[in-house]
Formats: sequence, C-alpha cells, structure tokens
Amino acid sequence: MAQRIDVLSIFPEYMDPFRHALLGKAIEQGILSVGVHDLRQWATDKHKSVDDSPYGGGPGMVMKPEIWGAALDDVAARTGPAAAADLESAQPHLNRPRHDELQGVERHRYPSAPADERPLLIVPSPAGVPFKQADAQRWSNEPHLVFACGRYEGIDQRVIEDARRTYRVEEVSVGDYVLIGGEVATLVIAEAVVRLIPGVLGNRQSHEDDSFSDGLLEGPCYTKPRVWRDLEVPEVLLSGNHELVARWRREASLRRTLQRRPELLEQAGLSQQDREYLTTLEQS
Ligand code: ADE
Repeated sequence: MAQRIDVLSIFPEYMDPFRHALLGKAIEQGILSVGVHDLRQWATDKHKSVDDSPYGGGPGMVMKPEIWGAALDDVAARTGPAAAADLESAQPHLNRPRHDELQGVERHRYPSAPADERPLLIVPSPAGVPFKQADAQRWSNEPHLVFACGRYEGIDQRVIEDARRTYRVEEVSVGDYVLIGGEVATLVIAEAVVRLIPGVLGNRQSHEDDSFSDGLLEGPCYTKPRVWRDLEVPEVLLSGNHELVARWRREASLRRTLQRRPELLEQAGLSQQDREYLTTLEQS
C-alpha cells in the first residue's frame, strides 16, 4: 500500500511543491499519497479564526486548540473534510526515467523500531529537537505521516499532549533560526523523507553516499570537461583506480568536515587510518 502524508496548514498553497519533481513522481507512481488540508475547514466561528491572544500576556497570537483537535481527529480517522480528494502530481512523469535510476537496483528499507499502529505526527517548531538524516531514514518507513504546520507564536501545547492519544508525536526544528510558520520546514522534512522511500530514488548508492549518512559531510564532485576555465579535475579521479579514488573521497570528506563541522567528527565512525589522516591535517 502507498505511504501516506497529510499536511494541515492555513496556507495549503505553500504545499504546491509536493506536486512537482520527485514528490510528484512518487504520487504518480502510487508510492505516495498526499492530502493537504486547509485548517480553516475546521474553524467554526463566522470569521473562521484560528488564533487567539496568549494566556499570561505577551506579543503574538496562539493557535486555538479546538480547531487543531478536530482537524487531527479527522485526519487520523480520514473522516470529515480530511476525507476529501488527494493531491495530484503537477506533471506527467510516468515512464520517464530519471538520470539517477538504475535498472535492477534492490529496494532498500532503512531499519526501524517495531510498528506502532498510531500515525506519526510531526510538529515543526523552532523549539523542537533538531531534525537529522537519521530521522529521515526512520520516517521513510512510516505508513502514515501527518504534519501540523503552526503559525504565529505556535499551537496551544495541549493540542500536542492530546494528540499523543491518537498519534506518536515528534516536535522538530530544521535549524537554529525562526521561520514564519511550519510550512517551509514541512517541505524540507518531507523532501528529505520521501527521497528515501523505496522506489522514489532508484539508486540506493546515492543515499548511502549522502552527506550525514556516515556522519560526515560529502566532499566535492566533478564532471566533464577535465579542464574548465583553467581549473582541473583532481588527477586521481581520472586514474581509474577505485581504491585510490575511494581513499581520496574519504580524505576530502574528512577535510571538509574538519573545516566546516568539526563537531560531527566526535560521533562519526572513524577508522585508525581516518584518525591518522586527521592528525596530519591538524598538524599542518
Ligand atoms: N517554524 C518556525 N521556525 C521553525 C524552524 N526553525 N524549524 C521548524 N519549524 C519552524
């Protein structure tokens, strides 16, 4: 059965990119179905208001619990407005292979914990725990992901507490900066997750070489021509010696990680040879 993503937002048009490129193709191929729901459908007053002033005072507005509660109940049960039509892909991609698809590549699942029947509710928030590649790998196995996009100061916290009866809940941040709402963060997370769903990107190797998959940043890459504006591709990449190329890539990756994200090295699985190389870099 196709994996399912539902998104709740007061700006459903923000989710239009879902219909394009890789995400759109996954929808077309029946690998993924997506429901995007306008939260205001669950608003009951005549102005369809979704927010109110915060208890305790202070600036900004807080999203009201009643509307979120009803919306999340409906999305979990696929009842009410949540049972309406699914998103369709913007472009016909079927039968058009992508450059990174390989014939006969085995569909690979990332391991995950034993199933819990409850869907996974993801609440993007600058106050959430940092979203990581390892989360994307785990969530790529989830049959049903629901994203709750907050705006303003955030969603009344009781919505998150109450949702735990129906959902497993994760509050995550996509970085140490503040966006206007959870919509763009949802697109970021959904893209990171969906590209790992088996069959979406044909080439499994391309995930395994991703930055972060082994805890390091990926090094630079090159294509033809060999010389461009007097700049040459590193000689070793033309050598045809796979072992030398692999070692060069590993060292480029270690070098870049040391320069840009040294804290990642503490958690990365490093060999004795990696450590020796890092020592030579630190001494130079
Ligand atoms: N909403 C606003 N800012 C955000 C962030 N940095 N991450 C996730 N959701 C957000």
